[in-house]
Amino acid sequence: MDINKYVPKFKIRTENLLSLTELSAEEIFEFLYAARSMKKRFRVGEHSPMLKGKTVALLFDNVSTRTRVSFEIGIRQLGGDFIFLPKNETQLSRGESIKDTAVMLARYGISAIVLRGFTGGQVREFAQYSSIPVINGISDEGHPLQVLSDLFTVWEIKGRLDNLKIAYIGDGNNIANSLIMGCSKVNMDIAIASPNGYSPAKSIVERGMQFGNVLITDDIAEAVKDADVVYTDVFISMSDEDDEAKKKKLARYRVTPEVMKLAKEDAVFMHCMPAHRGEEVSAEVIDGPQSIVYDQAENRLHINKAALALLVR
Ligand code: CP
Ligand code: NVA
Repeated sequence: MDINKYVPKFKIRTENLLSLTELSAEEIFEFLYAARSMKKRFRVGEHSPMLKGKTVALLFDNVSTRTRVSFEIGIRQLGGDFIFLPKNETQLSRGESIKDTAVMLARYGISAIVLRGFTGGQVREFAQYSSIPVINGISDEGHPLQVLSDLFTVWEIKGRLDNLKIAYIGDGNNIANSLIMGCSKVNMDIAIASPNGYSPAKSIVERGMQFGNVLITDDIAEAVKDADVVYTDVFISMSDEDDEAKKKKLARYRVTPEVMKLAKEDAVFMHCMPAHRGEEVSAEVIDGPQSIVYDQAENRLHINKAALALLVR
């Protein structure tokens, strides 16, 4: 389906944003069109106060620069209020259940909750008991807001999504999982090159294959051939233990200028950030002319606001 032919309704059926697995292509397009509209208004300094009188809780169990700042500022821009809750300062850290926390937070009039650093299972459990929208701000299984922002960025820069090819090089982590689901649903081919033992989970790959072309390989050249986008992420994620053996196996999976040369001439380089220059990407690439990483990061603001506008009722 071609996003440019889609007519947005600025409405979605889903009540939460837990992962891209639950979203249809049309719903992904709704998020992207809403982000485009948010960005247009932001550029002219116009903000609609759609969160006036509403409070969003940000319940975070790990550090963050982009997710936290883009939510806090985005909520303010929409006229709303937020409560930042580090998990270790809540009773969750002393064993209070997810059910009790989820049920209770809505009783105070909170309108939505962003969870960060929980496991995929905990995010789903939270949503099961929550009467207000739950938004996944990163879990060990996925990072849906990041990949929505990435798809929005590709749409802006390439003018379309369908029939493009994205190559992801590196660890088969939360970002790789969300890219598989997001890209396959919008008809973008995805090829993942990871060393043996670090490919994305088989269940995700099989799910993605039901919607689009997903190639899993250990060969960087095969993945990057004819790619319009080359993407990478850190070798060690926040939900991982530091692991020297893993880093050693991944060391060859760095996006260098030589790797970029194997992609299409007009290919762009993407990274969800934070990045480690000299590990998963060379400084020449991330700081070079093909890099669009700051556009991706900026677009987190517009996607977060779009998500709140679509989900908070
Ligand atoms: N990409 C991303 O989620 O960034 P932060 O970890 O800084 O929030
Ligand atoms: N895979 C990384 C993404 C950070 C935005 C992590 O989970 O730490």
